[in-house]
Order: sequence, then C-alpha cells, then structure tokens
Amino acid sequence: MKLFELSDYFGLEHLQRAERPTPGPRPGEVVIRVRAVSLNYRDQLVVQGTYNPRMTLPRVLLSDGAGEIVSVGDDVTAWKPGDRVVVPFFPDWLDGELDAAKAAGALGGNVDGMLREFAEVRADALLRIPEHLSFEQAATLPCAAVTAWNGLFVAGHLQPGQTLLLQGTGGVSLFGLQFGKMAGATIILTSSSDAKLERARAMGAHHTINYRAEPDWEKRVQEITGGRGVDLTLEVGGAGTLSKTLRATGYAGHVSLIGVLSGMAGEVQIAHILHKALTIRGIYVGSRAMFEAMNAAITRHRLEPVIDRVFPFEESLAAFRHLESAQHFGKIVIRID
Ligand SMILES: NC(=O)c1ccc[n+]([C@@H]2O[C@H](COP(=O)([O-])OP(=O)(O)OC[C@H]3O[C@@H](n4cnc5c(N)ncnc54)[C@H](OP(=O)(O)O)[C@@H]3O)[C@@H](O)[C@H]2O)c1
Repeated sequence: MKLFELSDYFGLEHLQRAERPTPGPRPGEVVIRVRAVSLNYRDQLVVQGTYNPRMTLPRVLLSDGAGEIVSVGDDVTAWKPGDRVVVPFFPDWLDGELDAAKAAGALGGNVDGMLREFAEVRADALLRIPEHLSFEQAATLPCAAVTAWNGLFVAGHLQPGQTLLLQGTGGVSLFGLQFGKMAGATIILTSSSDAKLERARAMGAHHTINYRAEPDWEKRVQEITGGRGVDLTLEVGGAGTLSKTLRATGYAGHVSLIGVLSGMAGEVQIAHILHKALTIRGIYVGSRAMFEAMNAAITRHRLEPVIDRVFPFEESLAAFRHLESAQHFGKIVIRID
C-alpha cells in the first residue's frame, strides 16, 4: 500500500512517499480502505518535532481518517465490508475519563496515523459516518470537531443563550461556531483577517473582532457583553492569548483550554481565575462516546463541516505547506483515491 511517512528526521523535507505491505485484520480488528484524511495544527507540531521530540521514526502521519471497511477479523460481527466508517483520534478511549493507557494510542503520534491507503483498527472503536456526509467531510471530525464538542458541551456546559468566545478560523473554532449556533449561543469570534471575519459572520457569528487590528481584543469583548464577559471560551491561542481570555471571560465562566497557537508557556494572571471563580478545564480531544453523541447532533442538524481545500494524495506535502501558511478557513483534507 502507498503512504506518506516522516522518514528519518523531523521537518517537512523528511515527509516521504513510501510503500508497506497491506495489513490484514487480526482478531477484533477491521481493515479500512482510507478514502480521506484531514490535517490539524497538531500535525504541524508533530512534523516539527515539538509535539513529541522522542517520537520514534518512521511514522505515518495524521490522526484523522475516514473510509470503507474492506475486511473484518474472524470474531467481528458488528461490521461488514463496504461499511463507511470514521476512526476516533484515540481508538482506545471508548468512554469515561482519559488515562495514560487510552492516551498512548493517539493516532499519528506514537502510533502510525491515517495518511495511508489501508489501516487496521480495533472494530469497537469505529463509528458509522453520518449518511449525509462524504468521506472528505467525515475525515474532518475526529480531532477538531470532537475537541470543540467536548470543550462546548462536556467540559464547558454551554447553555442556550450563553455567550461564547472563539479564536481564529481554524478547524476547532469553526466547529465551535457551528455547534455554538446549533445550541443557541451568542458568538464572538476573532480572526487576523477581515475577509475571514466576513465569512464567519455569514456563518452566523454575531460579533467579530480582528485581533491584529485590535490587539486589546479582550476590551472589545467586555464592551460587547456590557462588561459581563463571556460565559465560555474555547481557548486555542495558548500562551499569547490566555491572559486576555481570562479578562474576557465573565464571573463563574468556563475556559476550555485547548490550543497552543501562540506558544506553550507563559505568565498567567492567577488573580482573574480566583476572583472571578473561573473554571479552567484542559481538553484533550474526547472519547468515542463523545464522538457518537456529536454525530447524532450532526445528523439531526444535517451539519456540514467547513472544508477549505481538498488535495490529492500525491500532493500531501502541499497540503502540509497550506496548513503552515495559516491561510485556510476551516479544514484541509487529502483525498486518497
Ligand atoms: N487539546 C486538544 O485536544 C486539541 C485538539 C485540537 C486542536 N488543538 C489545538 O488547538 C489549536 C487550533 O487547532 P486547529 O487544528 O483548529 O488549528 P488550525 O485549523 O490550523 O487553525 C489555525 C488558525 O488559528 C488562528 N490563530 C493563530 N494564532 C492565533 C492567535 N494568536 N489568536 C487567535 N487565533 C489564532 C488563525 O486563524 P485566523 O487566520 O482566522 O486568524 C489560524 O488560521 C492548536 O494549537 C491545536 O494544537 C488541541
């Protein structure tokens, strides 16, 4: 089978086209013909070697993939060849809380990912693709969408009528926008680009702020909310935005701590957290159970993920370069024909 792997060293110049034997299913597994994969900012960190400098190579990249089952292990009865499925980010995190054993199986990290023609996956981890979604659309769900779902509804306890702050127009934030709208939240979204803000407004964002033009965007959030601050923030900016987020979030508000787009370490104004009794909850994608609940909502609302661009398999390197450019609005997908 054909695949792309990070061959012998970190850095995009070491992303190489390779061949490996096509896997067969072991007991409890199915083999999927992968039809589409999507990229996440995490994959950029993996390639750079900053996600896990001790990761062993070669490694097949990308956590997110969707496809159709081609063969099933002897004891697998729940699936059959031809079924359209999507694979969770953590195939071993079926339900309950995350622990070290469940986290160790994250795809495209210490375990080979989905940028390959065929993948063997434990059968009980898989989810059926919602009927109205294509393989390309389904491949956007495992990391960004489940993370947004967890950050909004599981950890964030978002209620109808509450105010939600989203940062940027990448995968997590645009799923946050779509799910937040679905749940009846008032949405404030920031971006570096006026053109992207216009698109976010067209998708239903109620208030938008250009964080480049207005570096003190947290003050604008306070103005917009009449001084109360927001109820929930999906914090994807990291070190460069967290202190501003703490100022922008209101009393008894929630911060779902998700990303590191502007750095992994920095000073935090602790006083905001305790004086406003904020809840800050770290998010690491989510479980299969969360994915299943999310898919039910996606099906019910016929929600369609926002895809920026689809690249053919042979142009996988260009897809990574496009991610690096941060020009995208929503998800970047690679189709595997
Ligand atoms: N903890 C988890 O489980 C988890 C899961 C998924 C993602 N993440 C993290 O969440 C972050 C977003 O991931 P993603 O895959 O959605 O990224 P992405 O699709 O690559 O989106 C990146 C976008 O974020 C915006 N951005 C960059 N720097 C920003 C800043 N300082 N302030 C506000 N927005 C900024 C930009 O949007 P504009 O061009 O509109 O400015 C940029 O295009 C990453 O740090 C990723 O590692 C964590």
